[in-house]
Amino acid sequence: MPGRFFVTTPIYYVNDAPHIGHAYTTVTADALARWHRLVGDEVFFLTGTDEHGLKIQRAADANGITPQEQADRTAARFEQAWAELDIRPDRFIRTTDPDHGVSVQAFLQKVKDNGHLYKATYEGLYCVACEAYYRESELVDGNCPIHGTPVEWLSEDNWFFRLSAFEEQLTEYLSSGAVQPEGKRNEALGLVRQGLDDVSITRTSIDWGVPVPWDPGHVFYVWYDALINYATAVGYGTDPERFATWWPHVHHLLAKDILRFHCVYWPAMLLAAGEQPPHRLSVHGYLLVGGEKMSKTRLNQIAPADLVADFGVDGFRYHFLRDTRFGPDGDFSYEALVARYNTDLANNLGNLLARVATVVAKKCDGVGPAPRADSPLAAVAEQVVADARAAWEAVNPAEALEATWRLLREANSLLEAAEPWKAEPGAEVDGVLGDALEVLRIVAVLASPALTRAAGEVWSRIGLPGSPEDQRVPGDVAWGGYPGGLAVEKGPSLFPRIKADG
Ligand code: MSP
Repeated sequence: MPGRFFVTTPIYYVNDAPHIGHAYTTVTADALARWHRLVGDEVFFLTGTDEHGLKIQRAADANGITPQEQADRTAARFEQAWAELDIRPDRFIRTTDPDHGVSVQAFLQKVKDNGHLYKATYEGLYCVACEAYYRESELVDGNCPIHGTPVEWLSEDNWFFRLSAFEEQLTEYLSSGAVQPEGKRNEALGLVRQGLDDVSITRTSIDWGVPVPWDPGHVFYVWYDALINYATAVGYGTDPERFATWWPHVHHLLAKDILRFHCVYWPAMLLAAGEQPPHRLSVHGYLLVGGEKMSKTRLNQIAPADLVADFGVDGFRYHFLRDTRFGPDGDFSYEALVARYNTDLANNLGNLLARVATVVAKKCDGVGPAPRADSPLAAVAEQVVADARAAWEAVNPAEALEATWRLLREANSLLEAAEPWKAEPGAEVDGVLGDALEVLRIVAVLASPALTRAAGEVWSRIGLPGSPEDQRVPGDVAWGGYPGGLAVEKGPSLFPRIKADG
């Protein structure tokens, strides 16, 4: 029975330009969406931009433009950056979209009607970069623990969400395993066990936000507006049937910087609104540059386009999916990117295709033979498909691609042992080449969530009609699917080698 998969990324602030940290989460979500389509799931992939709040207002002021202009400009940059990486969301949501305002108001009205909001005066230490209040004990040397920048004293009349009332339900929810990996789940549980203060969810000091329907002069605090985007996109408050269809399948991806909001506050808000807390939350670490998290203030951001210029879209996507384990922090290194590209893409994949096409031209008149039913690679392929499936399912693209490349390495070894380029044309040569072509076919399908361009290129060069993305896993990747009798074309080098010094 086909399943449903609703995958989300955080919505990115529009004060900042897209960098490889944002791209990492978004490429991962896109690859997961593509994988789930391959297995026949109905998929909805959501990303977008977070456009309200003090941080955006101040960025706009600094640029001498209105917050709406700031949002329009930066949202366009994100949309363009994602298009350039072949990231294809089903919706790019902006928190200034009209349906989002409707959702936010409906959602928080429900929370209020259920008795979970009250009004009081709030005073506290506030980090504008986080758009969050901190306790004094949470500061590091008096500064924000995330940004290392000074906090400000704010005092306002606010509506509060009775978060403290949800400790027990949250402990139960978090213990159920919705948050992955385990280390991040324990971090969330730890936050709940420390005790939860009620949180203020409205502001009067700014007007760049969604108005509170029951109290003129108040706008919702940006985080409570932002989190609700996940519900807006599937019809909360506008299309109840659609919401009921998709919400039970939601899977949020995020980095640990916003774990507290996603794994503690958001599930509590959903419970308060009478909805199911998120089905799954997958939390990854930071992509570090020179040992530090990328940020505007540290001037250590790398734009995706700079790397795409050298490595192509496939090189970019493959590297981040293959080399940055989902969970722990990972250091970005240009040298590692070059090494990965040359080994896996230029050698293992590119050379296999070039070699097979060359020998097919010489020994088989350019017509690809069929694989052997009793090939030694058949069992390897079966195991690889099973391992790749399990790894994608567990949000572990690195392991899924590692498994997929095992099949390429085995095919290369088979060719090296059999040396069909030295042998006389005949059944033996046909068998080995047919096996290698079958491996290329299977890998084109399994790698298509990462290699959005090369997968299709391999597919057509070995003479197959249509596209690897239209295949279904596991049925269409069972050994023996390459029919033989197709024209094989060598074409230009798929992944020209790159020198380490660029
Ligand atoms: N607007 C909020 C999110 C609201 S979601 C309802 C926000 N925006 S952000 O622009 O700061 O994006 C944070 C997210 O971007 C991280 O959680 C992560 O997904 C991604 N990353 C940004 N920098 C990153 C790294 N250096 N490393 C890994 N991920 C990074 O927070």
